[in-house]
Amino acid sequence: MANYNISIIKGDGIGPEIVDEAIKVLNVVGKKFDINFSYTEYLMGGCAIDATGNPLPQETVDGVLASDACLFGAIGGQKWDNLPRELRPESGLLRFRKEMGVFANLRPAMVYDELVDASSLKPSVIQGVDIMVVRELIGGIYFGEPKGKDEFKGWNTMVYTVPEIERIAHIAFKLALKRGKKVCSIDKANVLDVSQLWRDTVIRIGAQYPDVELTHMYVDNAAMQLIANPRQFDVMLTGNIFGDILSDEASMLSGSIGLLPSASTGLKTAVYEPIHGSAPDIAGMGIANPIATISSASMMLRYSFGEEKAADAIDNAIKKAMKDGFRTKDLAAFGAIEVVNTSKMGDIIALNI
Ligand code: IPM
Ligand code: MN
Repeated sequence: MANYNISIIKGDGIGPEIVDEAIKVLNVVGKKFDINFSYTEYLMGGCAIDATGNPLPQETVDGVLASDACLFGAIGGQKWDNLPRELRPESGLLRFRKEMGVFANLRPAMVYDELVDASSLKPSVIQGVDIMVVRELIGGIYFGEPKGKDEFKGWNTMVYTVPEIERIAHIAFKLALKRGKKVCSIDKANVLDVSQLWRDTVIRIGAQYPDVELTHMYVDNAAMQLIANPRQFDVMLTGNIFGDILSDEASMLSGSIGLLPSASTGLKTAVYEPIHGSAPDIAGMGIANPIATISSASMMLRYSFGEEKAADAIDNAIKKAMKDGFRTKDLAAFGAIEVVNTSKMGDIIALNI
């Protein structure tokens, strides 16, 4: 029987509630497909600050690195917002990504047919949207040196080296081969030197993938095109900060930020997490939408373990729950036959499997 060790970081706010539902679903899918999962929990973010004074304890780094993959909830909250920046939960997250070597962040944005009305865009614009944003995650302006701030100025540096661009480009082209065979690389090559290097390098790597159509777009235009005609995109390849911004924009095509998963893969291990945050305002109320986290568990099965059938089973179970009219509160206005709480949504998806 296949056996996988999953490290679990529940985090803050709604993190624990939504991760519990994903574990519930994993256990059911494991039984059905004869896969054994074992879980080890680690602290990160605000809860780690409260327990240890450090948003990213060394034990967490070591434990996650030793695991087969990590399932992550969400971190942060107002409670820790006034700490100096290096001590805040977000700094722990950035350090975590770097330590894990997860340079490739995959953020799908797709539209569930049952929820086409939930988007702020017209159904005719978003129906059938299926985009994968491939965001470079451990380089660019988030990490570039020099950086700093004094009383008079603040500065950060956007740096990309050729090997950093090459490895993320390969990920995007390989993914495109399994999807719509199109890569649109996003940059600001009309202004930034770093973007000119990005574009030259992507073109060179693209030549190794003759079956993939490569196009380029400036980031400002891409922001506009995502709203004007999102169906034109298949894989969007971007650097760290452009990907941060565009993936939030792309997520809104689907109507609810509570639906979308993400995968961060790279050199050592992989981390799977919902793209939404810790939503401290609704924590503990049992109303959070667990679907993004459950869907992240499906990505884990697909990308880390190659358990395609089990992943499909989860995806189909989510779709069936949608089709049958079960909605958490965030989507109550869109085709709900029954509004259910976080745990009930987990039960329904587990049952569908
Ligand atoms: C994200 C978040 C993070 C980022 C923050 C919390 C550091 O916005 O995962 O997109 O900017 O990468
Ligand atoms: Mn973001």
